[in-house]
Amino acid sequence: MSTTHAPRKREEAGSTTDPLRLNDVDHVRFHVGNAKQAAYFYAHCFGFQIEQVADLTTGSRDEAAYLLTQGNIRMLLTTGLGESHPAQQEVMRYGDGVKDIAFNVADAVAAWEKAVANGAEPAYEPIERTDAKGTVVTAGIKTFGRVVHSFVSRTGGYDMETVKNGGVFMPSFERIEALPLNDYNREHPCGLYYVDHCVGNVELGKMNHWVSWYENVLQFKLFKHFDDKDISTEYSALMSKVMDSGRELIKIPINEPAEGKRKSQIEEYLEWHRGTPGIQHLAFLTDDAVDSVGELHRRGVDFLTIPDAYYDLVWDRVGEIREDREKVKDLQLLVDRDEDGYLLQIFTRPLQDRPTLFFEIICRRGSRSFGKGNFKALFESLEIEQERRGNL
Ligand code: FE2
Repeated sequence: MSTTHAPRKREEAGSTTDPLRLNDVDHVRFHVGNAKQAAYFYAHCFGFQIEQVADLTTGSRDEAAYLLTQGNIRMLLTTGLGESHPAQQEVMRYGDGVKDIAFNVADAVAAWEKAVANGAEPAYEPIERTDAKGTVVTAGIKTFGRVVHSFVSRTGGYDMETVKNGGVFMPSFERIEALPLNDYNREHPCGLYYVDHCVGNVELGKMNHWVSWYENVLQFKLFKHFDDKDISTEYSALMSKVMDSGRELIKIPINEPAEGKRKSQIEEYLEWHRGTPGIQHLAFLTDDAVDSVGELHRRGVDFLTIPDAYYDLVWDRVGEIREDREKVKDLQLLVDRDEDGYLLQIFTRPLQDRPTLFFEIICRRGSRSFGKGNFKALFESLEIEQERRGNL
């Protein structure tokens, strides 16, 4: 049996360690309409292991949650089992989407207290879940729109290393054994292993507000390689600034719409997201874009298509790359180079019926930027998609 209650007030540890030192992305939590089916979709299309579950069979009476893992990516898919559950309320408003980018920290209560002292609005008070294995403490702050950041600290058998090695995620979860799809995915890996970045869409005029929020509350830095003049072209009709957690943990680019000739992708997102800011895309790292995207294509992942003309010009722009150029073109990978190296990237179409959340697959060969040389081709492709949806 597990118990859930408010944790004891933390004794002052006297440690010099900053409570807001983020160790890892603990997990990314989605609110979905049907976690059981969504788990199958993400596992089938993107090669995740459906590793653990908390539902009625494990004693979870009000929600069902599936933990999907691949490399160091942990996605938690949550569905409410009653209409008053917040996940059900949000699915009604926004459709399926990302609710929480949760950070692993040494002490969730201390991190939460410091973030609140830095100006964060609490999303929820600290919760301690304890059983015979150990303890998981979570505490949440609100960021843009419907999104929260939880701080998660783990002790005993729930520590992060144990979880990464297949240990139980938190009280009320159980490992799923003997699932044929998991066996298939182990034999046919997609090679995704890390959340490279996680992009938020905010309202017109609000980007700099949230840039300051990440600086002040979470002590993120504006990413030094970014040049916002390059992104606000007439094609892009958006502005973006990239916030960096430091220590290569995660980057959070923040987009806002900008004046353009036609409706921007950000405006389309907000229109179908009740005007509420949220997560536009998650980018997953692979070390082999050709292998990964080849496998994802075989699994039927629905990617944006890129006009052939893109490949008439791209090689002059990026020069030699390690990958076979024909394969890159066949897979419709986008390529970009900066002063540090190059990257390959590709974007899915929306992952649900509303044109909101999508995924990016990215492979970095030295480059630490975001493919700004691809924006023109990418946005032309997105405009074609918006036109198909009657949203341009
Ligand atoms: Fe991206």
